[in-house]
Amino acid sequence: MNTPQYRVLHAQNLDKIYGEKTPNPVQAVVDVSLEIKAGELVIISGPNGSGKTSLLSLLGCMTKPSSGSLRILQQEVTRLSQDKLSEFRLKNVGFIFQTFRLLEFLTVVENVEIIFNLAGRSGAGVRRRAQLLLEELNIDRRAHFFPKALSGGEKQRVAIARALANDPPLLLADEPTGSLDYHSGQAVIELLATVAKERKKAVAIVSHDRRIEHYADRILHMEDGHLSLRPPHA
Ligand SMILES: Nc1ncnc2c1ncn2[C@@H]1O[C@H](COP(=O)(O)OP(=O)(O)OP(=O)(O)O)[C@@H](O)[C@H]1O
Ligand SMILES: [Mg+2]
Repeated sequence: MNTPQYRVLHAQNLDKIYGEKTPNPVQAVVDVSLEIKAGELVIISGPNGSGKTSLLSLLGCMTKPSSGSLRILQQEVTRLSQDKLSEFRLKNVGFIFQTFRLLEFLTVVENVEIIFNLAGRSGAGVRRRAQLLLEELNIDRRAHFFPKALSGGEKQRVAIARALANDPPLLLADEPTGSLDYHSGQAVIELLATVAKERKKAVAIVSHDRRIEHYADRILHMEDGHLSLRPPHA
């Protein structure tokens, strides 16, 4: 039986203006409204400087909007204090970056474990859960390596494991295949699409990689801070 999809993210009229009180403010996000349900995969494309990373940072609670409303699992996150926002983000948002952003001084398994630790969990159970996640993502053979010994595709696999560690309902990725060769990129796309669907995550991926579109429920386009359904010719 299909369970009804519930709305994980609901953004209404989001604006982001950098340098609001300076002589040269930049409005990177303009009046963006967006809903993403559990199990839904949304692609955001658009030219350089159109505001894609700025929007993803807002949706991921990494920055606050200048105005508008953002509800994640019914919580109005714009009302949270900075401390509460960090706590909320850790629990509810998994973020994947183009350049992986693994901690170079920790091994692969420690890079995943630290997310449990930050959420206040530690002990032998945590090591086991991190190992299990690496197994599920087929990267466990690298568990005790440092990131510098891994290929780009392997690093991104670890970054996906890390993003899933707290089992967040919302998964965001900014150009996840942008630093990868063709084949590693393909493997990462398949992994992301599979975990998104199997684990019923609400997913937004900023990408120009047309191979991802095959898995997308919706393809959106950003232009000068405005988000819309991508026209067929773009
Ligand atoms: N922290 C910041 N302070 C001031 N301006 C910023 C900041 N971050 C981004 N901008 C500006 O906001 C606009 C949108 O930038 P953003 O990085 O969101 O675009 P993007 O679509 O992700 O571009 P790219 O495809 O190059 O990654 C740009 O004009 C950029 O210069
Ligand atoms: Mg960007």
